[in-house]
Amino acid sequence: ISLDYHETIMAAAGEAAEAALEQAISAPGGFICVVEGAIPTANEGKYGYIAGHTMLDICGRILPKAKAVVAYGTCAAFGGVQAAKPNPTGAMGVNECFGAKGIKAINIGGCPPNPLNLVGTLVAFLRGDNIELDANNRPMMFYGSSVHDQCERREHFDNGEFAPSFDSEEARNGWCLYELGCKGPDTMNNCPKVKFNGTNWPVGAGHPCIGCSEPGFWDKLSPFYEN
Ligand code: SF4
Ligand code: F3S
Repeated sequence: ISLDYHETIMAAAGEAAEAALEQAISAPGGFICVVEGAIPTANEGKYGYIAGHTMLDICGRILPKAKAVVAYGTCAAFGGVQAAKPNPTGAMGVNECFGAKGIKAINIGGCPPNPLNLVGTLVAFLRGDNIELDANNRPMMFYGSSVHDQCERREHFDNGEFAPSFDSEEARNGWCLYELGCKGPDTMNNCPKVKFNGTNWPVGAGHPCIGCSEPGFWDKLSPFYEN
């Protein structure tokens, strides 16, 4: 998205996509770079190529020119599942990879990330608002409360009412999924309030939160079905 409000949408492929990228980064008003996906860094980035260039090189060329960098999704923010041990491709999030070079990406954690958290962040930046970040560079306005503190099953947690199995009457009646592995107490995100497509979210649909917005959730918060 270029800041002079001429939008460049990367719906193209091949040379058209390359041209759109060059047009965006040369926009007179500057541009915001939204990164999706982890950056493979092992073996000089050889595990990830686009149009003959490594993702590592492309990011190294583009990111320093951007007015702001947003890492969209847990892969771009924290390396994602491919960064799970033993991380053979050396997958990293933007800040781990380029923080030492002065890049400070705003992280929109989540797997999937909520699009409303991205749009809200971009609008706040374009308005010139101060975007307060948490220790993981996530906007406090979206990641300032835990999933647990906003959960509609929370009253059952407080009452000690835990569903014994996924197919139990208690689970269907909204009892807490903590004993089935829910990581909502360890996870900062607004899923219970914003939902996805405005309709539902994992715990609302009967599945425990697996902590997908947290750095290293694949190693630190697994196994996902035990507490
Ligand atoms: Fe917390 Fe998960 Fe229970 Fe909801 S289902 S109250 S997030 S432990
Ligand atoms: Fe992820 Fe937990 Fe929300 S698994 S989508 S942070 S409910």
